[in-house]
Amino acid sequence: MAFATRHFVRAASSDATTAAAKKLLIKHVTIIGGGLMGAGIAQVAAASGHTVVLVDQSDEILKKSTKGIEESLKRVIKKKFADKPEAGAEFIKKTLKNLTTSTDAASVVHSTDLVIEAIVENLEVKNKLFKTLDKFAPEHTIFASNTSSLQITKMANATTRQDRFGGLHFFNPVPMMKLVEVIKTPMTSQKTFESLVDFSKAVGKSPVSCKDTPGFIVNRLLVPYMMEAVRLYERGDASKEDIDVAMKLGAGYPMGPFELLDYVGLDTSKYIIDGWHSLEPNNPLFAPSPLLNKLVEEKKLGKKTGEGFYKYK
Ligand code: NAI
Repeated sequence: MAFATRHFVRAASSDATTAAAKKLLIKHVTIIGGGLMGAGIAQVAAASGHTVVLVDQSDEILKKSTKGIEESLKRVIKKKFADKPEAGAEFIKKTLKNLTTSTDAASVVHSTDLVIEAIVENLEVKNKLFKTLDKFAPEHTIFASNTSSLQITKMANATTRQDRFGGLHFFNPVPMMKLVEVIKTPMTSQKTFESLVDFSKAVGKSPVSCKDTPGFIVNRLLVPYMMEAVRLYERGDASKEDIDVAMKLGAGYPMGPFELLDYVGLDTSKYIIDGWHSLEPNNPLFAPSPLLNKLVEEKKLGKKTGEGFYKYK
């Protein structure tokens, strides 16, 4: 028995060593899309010592992304290096040195270990991008999408590297939010999955894993919850103000569901729920809401347009 146990331990540890040896150490990252999410991901990756190329459609957009990153880094050092301004300045300098930009994804992926896509939430556009990059990226390169609501499997199938394809779902604002959902499709290899988990930890995040299921963990729970709040309000059971107060004071949530909907954007929420509804038309949790549809039609999209469920000045 003792021998069997020892033997097992030795076998298990050598298995772990082999698996670890096989993992890809991600050093060089290409991020496609320099918007809200892509710029945030570029920032945390560069700040943690990765060399990063941030790609977008024009130099003008990239200038804006870089400026945003610089501003965000200044906020970070105010907290992190409050009494060491020189170390803070050095941190910004080092981070920005790790970051370059490009408008031509195909020409920069030749030496990258990981491509993270954070472009517009449209499957056709994402698939077209991945299909092209698949031809130019080296064999070992892992592809990941930051999509909130689309199926990772469908994107993986646009490439020839289904085993080196997964989801890396960051949260907004990326420099602040600690979570990353690492998504494993049925084709994602264990090596790819573990490399993505290690990368998430290396950029200072806490990874959780989930299969390729609509909304993964957070949005799968959060979006139906917000839609239930809208339905409660639509039925006239309670006012939106009372629902928000109730969830803040009764459930300890930092924001009520209507405040959160306005923050996320009503168009984004509608897009997500419509997509899931088309996948599972009989699931009552994914049923569209006439009120949400009306507000989106009226371009009342939330905080970003000055009005959603609430008015903002
Ligand atoms: P965004 O609209 O702020 O940025 C998208 C950027 O991608 C734009 O700068 C655009 O010019 C660029 N882009 C579009 N097509 C491109 C192409 N073919 N090549 C290069 N660049 C291209 O969008 P955001 O909010 O950053 O979202 C990006 C992705 O992240 C989406 O898939 C979204 O679902 C996901 N996501 C968004 C979250 C959020 O709170 N906004 C949270 C988590 C994930």
